Amino acid sequence: MQPARQSPLLLLVNVRQLLTLHFPGQSGPRRGPDLEELGIVNDAAVLCVGGKIVSVGTTKDALRDPWIQKNRRRIAEIDCSGKVALPGFVDSHTHPVFTTPRLIDFEKRIAGASYEEIATAGGGIRSSLEGVRNAERAELARHVLNAVQGMAAHGTTTVEAKSGYGLTLESELKSLQAIRGVASKWPGTIVPTLLGAHTVPKQFTGRSQKYVELVCREMIPRAAREKLAQFVDVFCEKAAFSLEQTGQIFAAAAKNGLALRAHVGQLSETALEPLLHFKPASFDHLDHVSDHDISLLAKGDTIATLVPGANYFLGMREYPNARGLIDAGVPVALATDFNPGTSPTLSMAMAMSLGCTQMRMSPAEAIAAATINGAWALRLAARKGSIEAGKDADLAVFNVADYREIPYWFGVNRCVMTIMNGVALSPC
Ligand code: NIG
Ligand code: FE
Repeated sequence: MQPARQSPLLLLVNVRQLLTLHFPGQSGPRRGPDLEELGIVNDAAVLCVGGKIVSVGTTKDALRDPWIQKNRRRIAEIDCSGKVALPGFVDSHTHPVFTTPRLIDFEKRIAGASYEEIATAGGGIRSSLEGVRNAERAELARHVLNAVQGMAAHGTTTVEAKSGYGLTLESELKSLQAIRGVASKWPGTIVPTLLGAHTVPKQFTGRSQKYVELVCREMIPRAAREKLAQFVDVFCEKAAFSLEQTGQIFAAAAKNGLALRAHVGQLSETALEPLLHFKPASFDHLDHVSDHDISLLAKGDTIATLVPGANYFLGMREYPNARGLIDAGVPVALATDFNPGTSPTLSMAMAMSLGCTQMRMSPAEAIAAATINGAWALRLAARKGSIEAGKDADLAVFNVADYREIPYWFGVNRCVMTIMNGVALSPC
């Protein structure tokens, strides 16, 4: 991506379809039929000033506006004729701090080994640890920057970024520092998450409780004190951390003022009820979830973040039951789960395409899940996820005539411009 327009005054005009995601009276995350409400304005204009959206309406009205007429020369105008613009995607689940792709695991899986078998044999998450532990912070930052730049080229403007491939105090803090370094110079928004509880490292085999103590007593307090993380995540799974350990980690995170999210029900069912009183922002994966837990999720604001890229890449036949969740009233988000083991994709459009073709989400539902509900999953809905006056100037422009083409053209990138906090970039 090359800097295109850095003007503090930006005016998008002639947008064929503007998906504002504005929904009058909305007071919480989108659920049920409300997920279909895209707030479309045809032949639209958006004025952004100093990184914020100032007005949204038709091009005709914008060009008649006395303030715009008076300042026209100072305004950088972007002609979006024939194109679709929408809120920049909010990718609310990514693992960008790793050094190398996992090509041996890739081939083993093609030959028939399962993700769990590969992990038990020493592959999987544990095989990414050495690279991160040995890397300098600047090298990790280069990998993170590369990832977020790729995401921006695909229309993403807000990224949640987890640590989780160091799993020592020092290397988890180093990973979070690398994320912070990138966040301070990339024009988009990065939300850092401590995932010290990603798996039990080899040195703690048979002593997982000791490792949980390290996470609770050292990693979480340091990450909180040094303001290196906003969230704490846990991989709650038989092969990783138990429900009880997840509760201990959640309690430590809450005590240190950090918000909560967890990987749950990815490989086997996790009982969610014991964790719900912690009010996590998001439960992610949810391949296995009981009807009882679905009814509890429908009553709360914890987002169900679905990451179908992981199912696709692991060659799974089954996908999370998005229809069942949406129809029951659970607020659903979509994310890439960008990581070297289960989902090496940067593309939210790909996640949306899988949402439509494999999980029977409508294109409109997929768009709401990738924007406004992603923002809810990061507790950023007051600033992100829709195009409304007062919100951050985060937009993506796609070279398509109809929004349904975004998930339709899979495997190609139709994003032609991304605006992040008012800075416009076009793929070079
Ligand atoms: O979300 N399940 C845990 N974490 C990742 C996979 C991480 C890896 O294999 O490196 C996930 O799928
Ligand atoms: Fe993940």
